[in-house]
Amino acid sequence: MNNKRILVVEDEKDIRNLLCISLERMGFMAFPAATLTDAKKLISSETFDMGLTDVRLPDGNGIDLIKSFKKAFPDAPIAVMTAYDTTDVAVDAMKKGAFDFLPKPIRHERLKALVTDALENKSGSSDETPENFLIGETSPIKQLRSLIGKVSLTQAPVMITGESGTGKELVARAIHQKSHRRDMPFVAVNCGAIPSELMESEFFGHVKGSFTGAHADKAGLFQAAEGGTLFLDEVADLPLDMQVKLLRAIQEKAIRPVGAQKEIITNVRVLSATHRTLIDEVEKGSFRQDLYYRLNVIHVETPTLRERGEDIPLLSRYILDSLGGEDIKLSEQVLERLKTYHFPGNVRELENLLHRALALCEDSLILPENIQLPFSKDIVNESTGVDALEINDLDAYLASVEKSIIEAVLDAEQWNRSKAAERLNLTSRQFRYKLAKYGLSSENE
Ligand SMILES: Nc1ncnc2c1ncn2[C@@H]1O[C@H](COP(=O)(O)OP(=O)(O)OP(=O)(O)O)[C@@H](O)[C@H]1O
Ligand SMILES: [Mg+2]
Repeated sequence: MNNKRILVVEDEKDIRNLLCISLERMGFMAFPAATLTDAKKLISSETFDMGLTDVRLPDGNGIDLIKSFKKAFPDAPIAVMTAYDTTDVAVDAMKKGAFDFLPKPIRHERLKALVTDALENKSGSSDETPENFLIGETSPIKQLRSLIGKVSLTQAPVMITGESGTGKELVARAIHQKSHRRDMPFVAVNCGAIPSELMESEFFGHVKGSFTGAHADKAGLFQAAEGGTLFLDEVADLPLDMQVKLLRAIQEKAIRPVGAQKEIITNVRVLSATHRTLIDEVEKGSFRQDLYYRLNVIHVETPTLRERGEDIPLLSRYILDSLGGEDIKLSEQVLERLKTYHFPGNVRELENLLHRALALCEDSLILPENIQLPFSKDIVNESTGVDALEINDLDAYLASVEKSIIEAVLDAEQWNRSKAAERLNLTSRQFRYKLAKYGLSSENE
């Protein structure tokens, strides 16, 4: 790991010196800069493997440096240093391509973890991971795989959304597997399944005697995931008081076990998932906006199975093989039916359906009578092309229709929002709300 060159941009002399000394002790070469101008000069005259910048600098904003740094050294990670309470700055920086943030005041353990993460990640880019993680060759799934590849190189929190059974957990595992954290734990927690009175202790652990029933010290989920990834599934189910504590843990990269005097510094990447529209929960007041913003630095949406019907033969083959049905085939008719079926339960429904069919079929061939599609007398609504009786969540369905309409109109108007809003007869406020709700914004914003 020696000879790695790190740019350190910090206007306060003492902190700058301290950072450089610490990094040099770890075996790196540190290049100090006190201003944006100095930093830019170094960027043009030297090469770097990593950057670390303060945000408030005498001649400008460190966030503006991210772009020039990435332009000069596309493969080198850059992180920002921020004070605890400045959530917006850390999130903004990560959205602009920063690899991670370092909370101030700077603590040696955190600095070490951050630099190690940054430089290992870069070298450990991981094409060895099995590509069959997410089966499919249609463009939505290819895009998803490429996005997973990119996000696994940063430490930024990722929010995974998508309908039930679309593979959100699988995506979280893939991000972990592709990252340099792959040999460390992946801890998945269903936030809706923990009784609220035990929640704090489950997440952060407790010390012996801190409450009735605390007979011994106990580590929490953050400690269990140390060095690895913590996956918060169904994050919308977190009670509000826990949301505050989680926000602090993420901001400060530190936790305090229930009953403990001292904080413990943690190095955990947080991924979360929900099948709900979280921005609606924010509007309703049941989910904190600051936490939403914090968890949703990068948004990944898993496509529905009906958006990628062409993947059904490949997926079915993969599922049958994994159920031990390597020599079992699907008849042409069955494949046709599956390709046109709406799949409200997505890949999980396909798995269940094939599981049943495997038990029912004879002569190694699955026939239409072995496949039990709900409501097999198709009651197709001519205007939507959708079997009305297969919709089990009307709000989610209407939302998906609304989203496609907005996308189509935005495309038609070259992403001119005022024109799109006008065309849809929405006020700009309503339109902005809907864009946020559906995560629609053009990339370079
Ligand atoms: N692209 C894919 N390739 C192979 N298997 C998949 C794919 N997508 C989903 N699956 C499988 O479908 C099942 C459901 O996936 P998963 O549990 O990740 O969905 P989910 O989005 O978390 O669902 P829920 O919202 O109900 O929790 C799993 O068995 C998973 O392995
Ligand atoms: Mg799930």
